[in-house]
Amino acid sequence: MKVRVSEGDIARFEADAVVVNLFEGVTAPGGGTGAVDRALDGAISRLIAEGDIRGKAGELVTVHTLGRLPAPRVVVAGLGSREGFDIDAVRNLAANVVRALRRPGIRRVATLAHGAGIGGLDPEACAQAIAEGSLLGGYRFLKHKSAADDERAEIGEVVIVEHDAAKVAAMQRAVERGVVLAEATNLARDWANEPSNHLTPTIMAERSAQLAREAGLEIEVLDREQMEAKGMGSLLSVAKGSAEPPKLIRLGYRGRGGDGWDLALVGKGITFDTGGISIKPAANMEAMKADMTGAASVIAAAWAIARLGAKVNVLAIAPCTENMPSGSATKPGDVVRAMNGRTIEVINTDAEGRLVLADALCWANELGAKRIVDVATLTGAVTTALGDVCYALMTNDDAFCREVEAAAAAAGEKTWRLPMWKEYDEYIKSDVADCRNVGAGNRGAGTIVGAKFLEPFAGKTPWVHMDIAGVDNMSSDRGWVTKGASGYSVRAMINLALRMAEG
Ligand code: BES
Ligand code: MN
Ligand code: ZN
Repeated sequence: MKVRVSEGDIARFEADAVVVNLFEGVTAPGGGTGAVDRALDGAISRLIAEGDIRGKAGELVTVHTLGRLPAPRVVVAGLGSREGFDIDAVRNLAANVVRALRRPGIRRVATLAHGAGIGGLDPEACAQAIAEGSLLGGYRFLKHKSAADDERAEIGEVVIVEHDAAKVAAMQRAVERGVVLAEATNLARDWANEPSNHLTPTIMAERSAQLAREAGLEIEVLDREQMEAKGMGSLLSVAKGSAEPPKLIRLGYRGRGGDGWDLALVGKGITFDTGGISIKPAANMEAMKADMTGAASVIAAAWAIARLGAKVNVLAIAPCTENMPSGSATKPGDVVRAMNGRTIEVINTDAEGRLVLADALCWANELGAKRIVDVATLTGAVTTALGDVCYALMTNDDAFCREVEAAAAAAGEKTWRLPMWKEYDEYIKSDVADCRNVGAGNRGAGTIVGAKFLEPFAGKTPWVHMDIAGVDNMSSDRGWVTKGASGYSVRAMINLALRMAEG
């Protein structure tokens, strides 16, 4: 799907469908919707008067034009009430429209820049949100399906029609930014949806090299021997049970130039999590093909940050391995040693994400990262706490966490902070090692315990931990979020880098 901005009159635009909008309670539409209403001899006003169009959020009413417009149909999209109307509503509306119109015969869709007229929002922000919403909402993973052509119907092009010529160039640039953000999100979704036999750590490294070539990123991939040489015993303890070789992928982008890394993005890359010797039950285990969502997200984010040319130096680090039970697997009670010398008693081999992240965080610090964000499908407990509405943030630095919260909010992603009080340190004390990898004594707080385990590996570097295990996979479409891999955190991290680049 392509998205672009075109100067013109939407009532005269040649398209298979024209999308206009209406706030709840408006009886005489103005702006572009008013122009289309006049071209339709007042059909929209009439439908409002008769109660068939109400402008409620999520409402989409199709009006057939019967030759009065070049387009055969007009969709009137409800904006809801004016209070609380925001850029997230625009993004979600665009996503809903694309899904509703997806059928054979609809190739080109012309739309107003929803929100930019009487909505009072910034036209560039609206254009970006429509680009993001259209591409994100239209996402599907059909790679392994031999479906009939009807089911594969895709909208070819969404054209934002703007009557004010002076605004078009800036809106077009905003669309191009939105396209990069959405493509990165869809890339992370593709990787997360990919079954583990099609996306091993080796294949992740190969695909990363391809992206690095495209966008001009540095790439380094450490194999098992190189990780051994660095003393990454924690990461390697997870890989021990698998026949697939682990890979530690590092992408580097120096947009600012000069030395040092302003930001390291570290993502959990378990290409399949069986639980290891502490094996998981069979029910829903297939979902664990997506346990590399964090890794895919940081790789996709770095790719986008490079494509956008942001003036910031960014690292993406992705520790990738399977977590398998076997004769060579790590066993409960084993003690392993991370790169920074900290020893870990592995009580439960299913708490493997924190083990791979521990060494990845150490490496980010060794490389001189000034700030670190890690993202991981780390705990089932985060679903108990927060459901699938938002993801959890935990931090050692309030100010940095506020920046991350703002970056996520700008992406339309809800986040919620959990406390990191020192009382929780008790939970991970071990009798035989410096720490244990799960909380002792059934005291709960599983998501915080995961973050508390990671905290010493982040050291003194300002750090935010994102636990996305509640939102990484969705059971149904919800605005820009589509069923299956959601892509949460990708645009938040890109926005963070963009904000850091602006100072
Ligand atoms: N990958 C899982 C967490 C997860 C669960 C992600 C459900 C997405 C959906 C993680 O490795 C795990 O198994 N965590 C354990 C930790 C426990 C052993 C302390 C969990 O949440 O049960
Ligand atoms: Mn696990
Ligand atoms: Zn896991």
